[in-house]
Amino acid sequence: MMLKRSFMLVGMFSVSLFSYASEGSISAGESTFRTVGGYGCIACHGLYGQGGGNVGGNIRGNSLNDLKYSLEHEQTMKLLGDALSEQDKINLAEYMEYLGTFQLVDWMYVVA
Ligand code: HEC
Repeated sequence: MMLKRSFMLVGMFSVSLFSYASEGSISAGESTFRTVGGYGCIACHGLYGQGGGNVGGNIRGNSLNDLKYSLEHEQTMKLLGDALSEQDKINLAEYMEYLGTFQLVDWMYVVA
């Protein structure tokens, strides 16, 4: 028996529909979120920033200041500090804010 964990995004539209973002770009943020350092923020915070059993916590809806603070103070995140430009951080903040705007449904199911 194997336990599997799945996520479904409720009311999620194509990221490109959200290109109104002012200073940054949500889709660029998403790409950095998934790839930075070769493993991405997703390695610790989960594919949708939900945390949920990973090393890092839920960062859906977190701000640019939260990101900067943790890059300076969080031991594991300091490694990524040099890999991110100011624009990367702005884009990531846009993406985290975007993630916080829709609900994530989390459920467990059993595969026989
Ligand atoms: C090696 C693991 C790791 C990676 C990779 C990582 N983080 Fe974190 N992050 C943590 C841990 C651990 C914390 C502190 C616990 C927490 O608040 O989730 C943290 C904290 C944070 C916080 C502060 C949360 C709060 O409540 O104030 C933000 C924002 C954040 N991370 C964003 C990111 C972003 C964006 C990336 C990708 C650029 C990233 N993290 C990559 C481990 C990681």
